[in-house]
Amino acid sequence: MTDLQTIKARFGIIGRSDLLDRALGTAVRVSGTDLTVLIVGESGVGKEVFSKIIHALSTRKHENFIAINCGAIPAGTINSELFGHEKGSFTGATSDRKGYFETVSGGTIFLDEIAEMPLDTQAFLLRVLESGEFMRVGSSTVLKTDVRVIAATNVDLEERVRKGKFREDLFYRLSTVPIKVPSLKERRDDIPMLFRKFTLDFAERYRTDPIQLDDMALNLLVNYHWPGNVRELKNLAEQISVLSEKRQVTGEELLHFIPQIAHRHLPMVPDPSSQNGGQFQEREILYKLLFEMKADLNDLKNLVFGLIRRNDLSVPDYKGLEPPAASYEEQVLPSVSPAKKIPGIFSGHDMGSVKPILLDQDEADYQKSEEVEDNLSLEEMEKDLIERALKKHGGRRKDAAQDLGISERTLYRKIKQYLLQ
Ligand SMILES: Nc1ncnc2c1ncn2[C@@H]1O[C@H](COP(=O)(O)OP(=O)(O)O)[C@@H](O)[C@H]1O
Ligand SMILES: [Mg+2]
Repeated sequence: MTDLQTIKARFGIIGRSDLLDRALGTAVRVSGTDLTVLIVGESGVGKEVFSKIIHALSTRKHENFIAINCGAIPAGTINSELFGHEKGSFTGATSDRKGYFETVSGGTIFLDEIAEMPLDTQAFLLRVLESGEFMRVGSSTVLKTDVRVIAATNVDLEERVRKGKFREDLFYRLSTVPIKVPSLKERRDDIPMLFRKFTLDFAERYRTDPIQLDDMALNLLVNYHWPGNVRELKNLAEQISVLSEKRQVTGEELLHFIPQIAHRHLPMVPDPSSQNGGQFQEREILYKLLFEMKADLNDLKNLVFGLIRRNDLSVPDYKGLEPPAASYEEQVLPSVSPAKKIPGIFSGHDMGSVKPILLDQDEADYQKSEEVEDNLSLEEMEKDLIERALKKHGGRRKDAAQDLGISERTLYRKIKQYLLQ
């Protein structure tokens, strides 16, 4: 078997991550067979590139390869495009026409966005896959073809099956060999290398010197969540190569090209298909920030109190300390938690075994009621956030957990705690 390095070099595949290697390894292994392949992965991860590699390494390499985007062909014409039609079978069918399954016989058809394929077309596709048989639209003559199908999707096909939008039998038929192409955020280590490769390519194309990034710019690049994956990174590299006056680009300058890069990998990031867009997302981001700050703060408090207790320290000025969580809430989310100035330093939850040893009775009571209120509002927010994440991902805990930046186990615990689902 040809080794992966050679294949990467030949097809311009950049990356060293195990996930990428595993996906590519599977692609190489199945290329020599006629098996149907289902490539899954987010938009822009390289699904189409993979399909071309599989074809190019197969025995069909000298035959046709055609890529069809099922989501881009109107439902009314897709059957005719794929299987052809007879003259007079519908208005506008002025002559017989061959479809791709006829013209590409011997070769490979890449069916992109397979989830968008209408149900009747799915039935015809299943038949071709099982027996090589199909009929042109408007004809009852059964024709034979020999086409290898590679399908791709960036949505959860099983979910489509559950919703009755995708045939279960076709799903199983297609997923004989599934290949998951990893997203860019699953292989962050590859980002600098990809960017360098693209800037070198564009420098050559536009006859300039390649762009160089300073540390902050590189850091932003590596930590961004890249919803458009390699395609987005490539576009950015091109944009900077063409538009930047300087060849040395700082983090600050990078922000001008792609302001959202500062968001890093926060959950509930802009989803272009969501209608209630901006305002909504901003709140999600603020929620997440707040939770992160709260968690940091609690860690810090536990540390400080641990130190105080263990070393038996006296802290004379404790009464003057402001509870940072409350002031943040005040600044960031005034409507969510009615913020108060709280005397004492115990405003957070999760204080564990640490007791408010330094407070007098009044303050202790005050602090206790605040703590309950504080916990309640935070729990409400957390519950809300989890509900949204679950809804956004159609109840898929794995995806929701990833989006929230917590483990599946923690999510499971929280769901039980809040009696969600
Ligand atoms: N590993 C990779 N190394 C270099 N370029 C890549 C890689 N993966 C994808 N690309 C490039 O990214 C762009 C998007 O790839 P494409 O296959 O169209 O993604 P998808 O079909 O998943 O939306 C293309 O320009 C492709 O050449
Ligand atoms: Mg694509």
